[in-house]
Amino acid sequence: MPQKLACQKELFSLPDDITYLNGAYMSPLLKSAEEAGIKGLQLKRAPNEITLYHFFDQIQNLRKSCAQLLNISNPNSIVMIPAVSYGMGIVAKNLDLKKGENIVIAGEQFPSNVYTWMSLAKANDAELIIVPAPKTTENRGKLWNEAILQAINSKTKLVAISHTHWADGTLFNLKAIREATNQFDALMVVDGTQSIGALPLDVAEIQPDALVCSSYKWMLGPYGSGIGYFNEKFANGIPLEEAWINRYESENFANLVNYQDEYQPDALRFESGGRSNFINAPIFQAAVDTILSWGVENIQTYLSELIDKPIDKLKEIGCIIEDKNYFSPHLFGIRLTEAFDMDKLKAILNEEKIFVSFRGTAMRVSPHVYNEEADLEKLILAIEKSKK
Ligand SMILES: Cc1ncc(COP(=O)(O)O)c(C=O)c1O
Repeated sequence: MPQKLACQKELFSLPDDITYLNGAYMSPLLKSAEEAGIKGLQLKRAPNEITLYHFFDQIQNLRKSCAQLLNISNPNSIVMIPAVSYGMGIVAKNLDLKKGENIVIAGEQFPSNVYTWMSLAKANDAELIIVPAPKTTENRGKLWNEAILQAINSKTKLVAISHTHWADGTLFNLKAIREATNQFDALMVVDGTQSIGALPLDVAEIQPDALVCSSYKWMLGPYGSGIGYFNEKFANGIPLEEAWINRYESENFANLVNYQDEYQPDALRFESGGRSNFINAPIFQAAVDTILSWGVENIQTYLSELIDKPIDKLKEIGCIIEDKNYFSPHLFGIRLTEAFDMDKLKAILNEEKIFVSFRGTAMRVSPHVYNEEADLEKLILAIEKSKK
């Protein structure tokens, strides 16, 4: 693992004339991942070259790399899924939710981690407890975390939360939430889409029951690929669909119509149909390999140093930003007061090709190792110019 990361922009093909501070929307593709994807695409030219390796080993290697990234001892507890909604669907299908019980989520979560719980709660006459963000800018992250812990009670069956809030980067204390859920024997599922790859998440330490993540943001992967981790509580669970490849001895193509009652081991029954995607899998693998070679801790250090001074400067010019202990440097929200003209700001950003997102009440800034201090300086200048 390198001691200190330098800017990694040369590994990407980002156009020179844009300032991309929007990894939380969509990551750019690594050059190495692009090459791997092209090879995967070209493989279909000669279908005779598509072998058992591509159906099985390629995915097993990817599971192993993801297991390393997340400190998961058993790669077979990780499955390939197309989207977070798919992973949440698996949890919902296996949750024995009864009338009067509840599910706890944070306010304004990403819809893939909301709609499933709305319909499950409704179907079972149960309650969906949505814990809103406190209506204050002082100690907002701390108070929000406290409110979530307070909402968990003896009727709670599940807490479905992300590691960092997608709209403004608020960090949720997964360890504390895990302790609270354990106290009441409730499950905890984590949506890692806005954190895995950029913020360390140690599954052995946190011990979530399930963890789901789309790959196209901080895992630098392709769109339409993600991972789900399911612990032993999901052993013997019911999958969302009955994919042929998830059954015992599916490696034996000649014998597939000797239908099997047994599944592949551990969580592999949950994998989605078509999971051996020959184009997406090599892209995803190249991306995870690169993240492992950088080291997530080193990414954090790089980004902390990158945003340190800019955050102070932004506060100086009147922007409202969460306390540093309650956001991760890869994703933070800037709240602008009446002193700024939002329409003017959006026009300046557009004109100067500076890419951020506007989500809820915050302007979301999400840098990565391809960014340099000059990128943040440009953003600060744009915000300053939008002062009324
Ligand atoms: C927190 C979070 N979860 C999930 C997703 C994507 O969901 P899905 O994989 O279901 O498309 C996003 C996309 O912005 C997100 O921010």
